[in-house]
Amino acid sequence: MAAVVNGPDIRRFGDLDALSRAAADDLIELARAAVAERSTCSIALSGGSTPQRLFRLLAQRGRDAVPWDHVELWWGDERPVAPDHADSNYRMAREALIEPLGLAASRVHRITSELADLDAAARAYERDLSAALGSPPVFDLVLLGMGPDGHTASLFPGSPALDETRRWVVANPVTSPLVHGSSTRITLTAPVINAARHVRFLIGGADKAAALAQVLEGPRDPARYPSQLIAPAHGDLAWLVDTAAAANLRGAR
Ligand code: 6PG
Repeated sequence: MAAVVNGPDIRRFGDLDALSRAAADDLIELARAAVAERSTCSIALSGGSTPQRLFRLLAQRGRDAVPWDHVELWWGDERPVAPDHADSNYRMAREALIEPLGLAASRVHRITSELADLDAAARAYERDLSAALGSPPVFDLVLLGMGPDGHTASLFPGSPALDETRRWVVANPVTSPLVHGSSTRITLTAPVINAARHVRFLIGGADKAAALAQVLEGPRDPARYPSQLIAPAHGDLAWLVDTAAAANLRGAR
């Protein structure tokens, strides 16, 4: 009897708010379980705009909802800007989550992407990550978004980091209209994300519908749709999507 291979774990929600509430419940459950089992929980936060609602909901749930004193916060990627820049993924999380909950700076590990030498910044982050979580670093939870081009973290279509199999963190040169031409972003590589115990995509909005259908139901083409690289070796992967982003998926019609 051939093993029944289930399809991807796709969880549909009416809108981003409902998606974010479910993501908050999921994160709280995973964090509590991780701390109960290993006395610690390491989370890689995603950037962009989608997770902001999730972060605000977690802040509203208060310090008691999650054993925050045992949670280490990291980032999946960062733009080459100062930590107080409007485009900084760290700044967004600091304002929406870290400051409202008063989380200890010692457990907040931002990427120092303001440095001139981004390769050195990536190597420093990689050293810290490996020292804390091993090699490859094993996160309890990696939160991911997806761009309208199918990128995730800062793994953009056609960028060198897509082929990286040895490094855990790299400075990735990116050419895309989504980065206003070209930029270099620091990002986790696919091997680190795929070493995680739990991976969650949070994807909302009609502008993601075409790429999401290609990623989940199109031909395998990770160079063009890097989110297809995400396939945890031992952990579980779930796609939390709103109705607008799921509009082009089979069964959505
Ligand atoms: C970033 C993110 C990136 C993001 C997607 C989706 O630094 O921008 O890490 O991968 O998750 O671009 O961004 P939105 O949530 O803003 O649509």
